[in-house]
Amino acid sequence: MRIGVLTAGGDCPGLNAVIRAVVRRAAADDVDVVGIKNGWRGLVENDHVELTRASVVGILPRGGTILGTSRLNPVEDEQLGRLQENLRILRLDGLIVVGGEGSLSVARDLWSDHQVQLVGIPKTIDNDIRGTDFTFGFDTAVSIVTDAIDRLHSTAESHHRVMVVEVMGRHTRWIAAYGGIAGGADIVLVPEHPFRITKVCELLSSRKKDGRPFSIIVVAEDAHPHPAEDFLTKEQNSSIYRHDRLGGIGEVLADEIERCTDIQTRVTKLGYVQRGGSPTAFDRILATRFGIKAYELVRQGNWGQMVAICGNRIVSVPLAEAVGEVKRLDDEIYRVAEVFFG
Ligand code: F6P
Repeated sequence: MRIGVLTAGGDCPGLNAVIRAVVRRAAADDVDVVGIKNGWRGLVENDHVELTRASVVGILPRGGTILGTSRLNPVEDEQLGRLQENLRILRLDGLIVVGGEGSLSVARDLWSDHQVQLVGIPKTIDNDIRGTDFTFGFDTAVSIVTDAIDRLHSTAESHHRVMVVEVMGRHTRWIAAYGGIAGGADIVLVPEHPFRITKVCELLSSRKKDGRPFSIIVVAEDAHPHPAEDFLTKEQNSSIYRHDRLGGIGEVLADEIERCTDIQTRVTKLGYVQRGGSPTAFDRILATRFGIKAYELVRQGNWGQMVAICGNRIVSVPLAEAVGEVKRLDDEIYRVAEVFFG
């Protein structure tokens, strides 16, 4: 038997742990594993590498992916013909696709419309994939945000400043809410709740009056001001909320806070730091369990499935049910964060 594995979409901590798990489990059965380079691009360009036990030595703690990745979408780019041709050339009996919402949507279509025999593994720091309680990468990202907030508290307290921390998470509030709770943020602004700038400033001013002249605000990259109090210019709007790249709300928010409250305000955009470096123990274990389960599904010929974690059980769900719509944060979690606002 010969199986392929590819990592597509944004990198995240734990991808190497998945690759290692698949290769090690397959080696025990004498099954060959082909690593497809750079996500779907490797199938379009027939760029691959044989993966053996030796190829995965020492990669468990490493961030990124030894296979490389890309955001190429072969369906949108009309590369399906070349992709299918290369799949035939490679003589793969099955394919494991490690990806986020976009890459797993491609996987769903390849299975349902073209009968490409594949299994999906969900990864993303955003934790926004339906059908699984967690994706790997998320726990590491939250740990990085937490550590950053802990460190920012020093300058906030010493200089009596407001520190705005802009975090990733695409259109959902998972990273902001979890990071904000773990780091003890005083305000968390998320896409699902457009914020009123007057309320934010009132909170900050009343903290100052109460003898707490420093504050930490976590703002998600897709958080929007409430339409009734929109202070962004048209240009700012289009540069912050771009379809393919979000970012910049922190800077504009900090300026507005400083203008309204007269409290010195600084901004830290954590950006790609949240996706880098060594995975936490939780992410290593989750990625490893996902890799083993995906291999088992391939051996069973259980195609069109995505591995998932439900409670603490590793299960599988049809890709068709897992993608298409993002998973929103449970409101209960946001309400916990809200208790500590102000
Ligand atoms: O999906 C992961 C993620 O890091 C998002 O949180 C962020 O909006 C996006 O990817 C950034 O994408 P890119 O790597 O293409 O800049």
